[in-house]
Amino acid sequence: MAGTTRFAVLKERAAGETRVSATPETVKKLIALGAAVAVESGAGLAASISDADYAAAGAEVGPAAEVLAGADIVFGVQGPDPALLSGVTPGAWVVAGLDPFGAGEKGGRARVSAYAAAGLEALAMEFMPRITRAQSMDILSSQSNLAGYKAVLVAANLYGRAFPMMMTAAGTVSAAKCFVMGVGVAGLQAIATARRLGAQVSATDVRSATKEQILSLGAKPIFVENVAGIEGEGSGGYASEMSEEYRKAQAELVSGHLAKQDIVITTALIPGREAPRLITDAQITTMKPGSVIFDLAAPQGGNVEGSVADQVVVRHGVRIVGYSNTPAHLPADASALFSRNLFNFVSAFWDKEQGRPVLDEEIGNAIRLTQGGKVVNERLVG
Ligand code: NAI
Repeated sequence: MAGTTRFAVLKERAAGETRVSATPETVKKLIALGAAVAVESGAGLAASISDADYAAAGAEVGPAAEVLAGADIVFGVQGPDPALLSGVTPGAWVVAGLDPFGAGEKGGRARVSAYAAAGLEALAMEFMPRITRAQSMDILSSQSNLAGYKAVLVAANLYGRAFPMMMTAAGTVSAAKCFVMGVGVAGLQAIATARRLGAQVSATDVRSATKEQILSLGAKPIFVENVAGIEGEGSGGYASEMSEEYRKAQAELVSGHLAKQDIVITTALIPGREAPRLITDAQITTMKPGSVIFDLAAPQGGNVEGSVADQVVVRHGVRIVGYSNTPAHLPADASALFSRNLFNFVSAFWDKEQGRPVLDEEIGNAIRLTQGGKVVNERLVG
């Protein structure tokens, strides 16, 4: 019989990262599968989980070197420093959000090469295919959902007025107008959150399929009609790049609308590329002073001209804000969902006979970045 599969859960080392890749709940579930789990001391502190909570769930808790010694599967929220991983079992898996396109010496792509060189099998959870059976393993969805919610709360906090209409003895307070640009997972949650707070909400996207979804949340769709390229749907439900004609028409439509908004939440992303520019400085000059823009794409280059991650920038009286890691501002829930995504992934492929997960081709080939000393993923070696 094969030995017990050992999971290692590390404390995240990236600046500003507050999340953790396993919770006491998922530790218990991994142990119930027959695995052993070791958690680095302090790993959960920023997400309000103590070492004692992990120990009570059955984990061994200790320093990184002990946790990693003989580990078969290393969990992370972000990719761990390859230099840390020398004590793991040869061919061990690294399961995390690996930022495979991240540039620079310390970027995700460079780390992926180092995992390959170390003979590790790196599995990028953000490459999970968008298929029904993988929905519960999708870290992009679970984290974007929380990010969309937080973006609206942060914008509401920076806004010098109220969101809902209020009729008071001293007069009426009018409802805030909130515009959501990009209606994927984050955008849908932003619409729902702004509605709950009482704003008048409108939204736009390049994928025409989102029109129905916007309406069903009680918001107003703002869409370019009758221009080639309106479909905008690329592979796997993601957006594709738009035609020049479409982009011009969209900019004109949006310009008129933006000038009337109090709160704007931008969420537009195209996988593997810089975020598309949706709002220019010239458009910001037309907005009312006191308006707030939250740029959820700030870490990918930003949808808004002049946005700087983790700073509130004031341009023409408009506050522009975006975080480099929005889910990290909700550490407990973001960790709970992220951890369940990882557990759901491992348990879906758990082979009882072998006592370890065995991947199938469809998901394995999509998320596996390195194997046998090489970078093997077609999106990286293309
Ligand atoms: P995303 O984070 O890649 O992009 C956010 C939104 O921005 C998308 O709706 C995209 O169409 C939009 N966008 C891109 N360029 C734009 C532009 N120039 N102007 C306006 N909007 C622009 O998207 P996310 O949240 O990852 O979702 C993409 C799709 O995948 C959705 O249809 C979602 O429902 C689907 N999905 C499917 C899953 C599954 O079946 N397992 C899981 C999660 C999402």
